[in-house]
Amino acid sequence: MQKQEMINILLVEDEEFDVRRVKNTLDYYNSRIKLLDTVSNGMAALSLIRENPDKYDVVIMDYQISGGLKGEELISKMKSYDPFIQIIVVTKMTINITNYDFANNLLQAGAFWYCTKYPGNIEEYIYQPTDFILSIFNAYEKKKLEKQKLKSDKRLKKNIENLLEAKKIIGESKPMIQLKENIEKYAKSDVNILINGPSGTGKELVAWNIHLRSKRKYENFVPINCGSIPSDLLESELFGFEKGSFTGANREKPGLFEVANNGTLFLDEVGELPPTAQVKLLRVLQEGEIEKIGRTGKISVNVRIIAATNKNLAHEVNNNRFREDLYYRLNVVPLEIVPLRQRGDDILLLFEHFLDYFSQDLGFTKPVLEESAKEILLNYKWPGNVRELRNVVQRLVLNCPDRITAKDVSNPMILGNSIVSKEESGFEDLYEGQVLPLKEVERKFRIRYFKYVRSISSSDSAAAEKLGLAPSNFYRMCKELGLK
Ligand SMILES: Nc1ncnc2c1ncn2[C@@H]1O[C@H](COP(=O)(O)OP(=O)(O)OP(=O)(O)O)[C@@H](O)[C@H]1O
Ligand SMILES: [Mg+2]
Repeated sequence: MQKQEMINILLVEDEEFDVRRVKNTLDYYNSRIKLLDTVSNGMAALSLIRENPDKYDVVIMDYQISGGLKGEELISKMKSYDPFIQIIVVTKMTINITNYDFANNLLQAGAFWYCTKYPGNIEEYIYQPTDFILSIFNAYEKKKLEKQKLKSDKRLKKNIENLLEAKKIIGESKPMIQLKENIEKYAKSDVNILINGPSGTGKELVAWNIHLRSKRKYENFVPINCGSIPSDLLESELFGFEKGSFTGANREKPGLFEVANNGTLFLDEVGELPPTAQVKLLRVLQEGEIEKIGRTGKISVNVRIIAATNKNLAHEVNNNRFREDLYYRLNVVPLEIVPLRQRGDDILLLFEHFLDYFSQDLGFTKPVLEESAKEILLNYKWPGNVRELRNVVQRLVLNCPDRITAKDVSNPMILGNSIVSKEESGFEDLYEGQVLPLKEVERKFRIRYFKYVRSISSSDSAAAEKLGLAPSNFYRMCKELGLK
């Protein structure tokens, strides 16, 4: 049998007679309960607790005690020095046994239990011994549970911190700083959020960050891709079904709304939701209840919805492909994620981040990224956004053990063929269907080219440098072109 721990007691009692009665009551259980110290006033009790943290498990204290510090004040002071200590109060018979306020005040101050002392003619015991002992055991159990809870709370907190680190959003460009501020701001409330951004920009990552910063963080984050599940299965995925509700339903299946209860449901590619599912989803959002297939009663759920789309959902509404009422329910707060090519030097920050990650993951030393290669990365359009960049870095880490050169990154196997995209190289559309004076076409070309170069540069002077202009000339020409 496992050896049982001793329960250590501090007794606060100023009457010799009662000290004796308490000792005697505990004595039968001296194999489990040990009266470590006895003091006769509140101050002495307090200094013992303060000087010996965690020494005592349970305090047995007389309510009517001499000295200034006593009663509820003493209880709450002891608890403030040692929050896990459990306090059992013994009072004289003079307290009316139906005085609930008295009991309540004691408990509110932090006492675990209280009892009235036996009358003075019972010389052996302070109270019915088995009840008294049982309360001490219970008090000790409570202390252990509270300590365990603190430990697991700490562990949970650590888990969340680790997750936040793993799901960190890299980016210092203006739009990303704004995005991070918005995440911080809206995570705390419970509003539904619609994330909009092209493929691979980090929509799921943003949804995770909202969840991990919300009060729902200890509950589930449940992602579902509305575009990848056939429409006839989507309903049973979202709402689940009861056993026997249709042929083949040989066991009950909880829907994702149930799995996400009290947590967050991430509806990815929400623009792909078929019309019937849109109706059902709207009803859940309005009523907070789901209808499980094959079940008569409804189930209440409390789920925060974060939806994401790479479509222009307002446009889908205008074209009757997405319900307007559902759109407004989902889009309480819109969050926009800009394409990677509009984030300037974030490209390099992300590159270094993934370089660290993959080098560590593969056990390689981190290769050095050459300046000339940086320039190419900054100029590339990144049609696949961060996801593409991540894949590019992974390939480079495998192929370039020491250095990553301009030649390495311009390899079509690495960056694809679109280093200069059609949009920026063609200028057929500058004509607008009619032949314009050269001056006018030049002006149009300059405006577009200046805008493009500025969009891939971190600052005006970086753009000027790329164009081979002095910053002051760049500024003047921008003004002339109406760009400033
Ligand atoms: N700012 C960022 N910092 C660090 N990692 C990022 C960032 N943005 C995206 N990622 C990473 O890039 C990959 C793609 O991101 P994510 O899956 O969140 O994009 P998405 O917008 O949901 O893409 P899709 O539209 O294809 O579903 C993930 O591995 C993600 O962790
Ligand atoms: Mg995604």
